[in-house]
Amino acid sequence: MTDAPRLEFRHIGKTFPGVRALGDVGFAVRAGSVHGLLGENGAGKSTMMKILGGEYIPDEGELAIDGQVQHFRKAADAIASGVAVIHQELQYVPELSVMENLLIGRLPTRFGLVDRRKALAWTRERLDALGVDLDPRAKLKQLSIGQRQMVEIVKAILRDAKILALDEPTSSLSHRETEVLFRLVRDLRAQGKAMIYISHRLDEIFELCDAATIFRDGRKVADFDTLEGVTRDQLVQRMVGREISDIFGYRPREHGKVRLAVQGVTGRAVPAPVSFEVKAGEIVGFFGLVGAGRSEVMRVIYGADRRTAGTVQVDGETVKASHIRDAIRHGLVLCPEDRKEDGIIGVRSVSENINISARRNHLIAGLFVNDRNEAKTADTYIDRLRIRTPNRRREIRLLSGGNQQKAVLSRWLAEKNLRVLIVDEPTRGIDVGAKNEIYNVLYELADRGVAVVMISSELPEVLGVSDRVITMCRGQITAQFNRTQANEADVLAAALPEGASATPMRNT
Ligand SMILES: Nc1ncnc2c1ncn2[C@@H]1O[C@H](COP(=O)(O)OP(=O)(O)OP(=O)(O)O)[C@@H](O)[C@H]1O
Ligand SMILES: [Mg+2]
Repeated sequence: MTDAPRLEFRHIGKTFPGVRALGDVGFAVRAGSVHGLLGENGAGKSTMMKILGGEYIPDEGELAIDGQVQHFRKAADAIASGVAVIHQELQYVPELSVMENLLIGRLPTRFGLVDRRKALAWTRERLDALGVDLDPRAKLKQLSIGQRQMVEIVKAILRDAKILALDEPTSSLSHRETEVLFRLVRDLRAQGKAMIYISHRLDEIFELCDAATIFRDGRKVADFDTLEGVTRDQLVQRMVGREISDIFGYRPREHGKVRLAVQGVTGRAVPAPVSFEVKAGEIVGFFGLVGAGRSEVMRVIYGADRRTAGTVQVDGETVKASHIRDAIRHGLVLCPEDRKEDGIIGVRSVSENINISARRNHLIAGLFVNDRNEAKTADTYIDRLRIRTPNRRREIRLLSGGNQQKAVLSRWLAEKNLRVLIVDEPTRGIDVGAKNEIYNVLYELADRGVAVVMISSELPEVLGVSDRVITMCRGQITAQFNRTQANEADVLAAALPEGASATPMRNT
């Protein structure tokens, strides 16, 4: 092996209108290593990965592979040089099957045009060999985001890329999928690949990465040749430029009367009746593994999916079944997990996205009037959640992934007339500093008497923020814990299907 790093970024600069996304940034990645790339939302991580993938051309600087300077002009150039980038926001063709996807570019040459059976067998074999559980015939549109991500990863492996970059790959993976991914990454490292790994979950960085680089505001602020002896606080400190001693910052509060009463609710994806209550000022965390049915239950309660039995009451008033507008009229609001698909209006400004209330969102959004109040609300949340944008008029699609999340989440937090707020994975893809602020907003809402339901797959977050924890497994509530009784082992055990072994969950 030569001494030149497998991959080297040198003095990279990239400016978008009004934003200097990267300025004079360089770092190197060794062969046979996993290099963590960290930084707050909008720090420039994805921009760097798009430069590596040939999608953006840098304004300044260059990148080198094994000491050779590369001039990528398009994605195909990067692929030809052995680079595979799995982007934060996947582009995919919904109608293609897993097999077709994996065989793109090889089908005709390798198998002739019609030999589907052979192609199918080939694909099955490859997936089995990698230990990836996917049906080769499934269409991409039928897969979860996590599964689509797996397809991308397998594609990169089959292409035998020597440099592999993963931009927040686990943000929508289930626990099991994450394990599979980690195993694949470790195998690839053993084969001498150079990998870049982006994640806001510091546990993952410590678990997987050999070295790390931290970006802040488009600059490199730290390089770690090794993570041995490095603490989580040190990383956080460098990322956000300040100390965050207790990211959850929980504070106890008084609870009032029952605000949300759910009784015997069922729906298509909720076969067994579900019942629970949440009091005014109470934050109830719903914990379960991805796929435990938490989102499905909440969608039925909110009326986004059909309710086939049971009652939902807010302050003793009955909410009509399967009728979102009636839920909103009662002050019951759901901020969905997939904010991208359900929430963002890409060409609208940050301010409009924050100010479209849940109510107006479900009316057909007509003209947006941007009055002074709205400007103030927008600026408040831009400031509080540190939404990185030159101003509130910027189109939301131009923001980094995490900053889009923050803006859309603000919409629900800013909703007036809230009585019950259900938030589904509120901190997914969001950096440590902003997580802390999101928790504070939830506490403030609870202080005002809102009943808060928080779905989260991150156990430390559930334990850190909730007054009470409810666990679900396979569509049913399996246990409840008061804050004082809730501990990691018991909550996890209650959320796992019978017979499964408990492995620790990771988080921020
Ligand atoms: N196509 C674009 N047009 C305009 N601005 C852009 C574009 N792409 C990125 N930016 C801006 O560049 C900056 C860096 O964004 P980038 O997506 O690289 O951040 P990130 O570190 O990946 O953040 P996150 O953790 O939220 O994914 C942000 O301010 C973003 O708004
Ligand atoms: Mg990003």
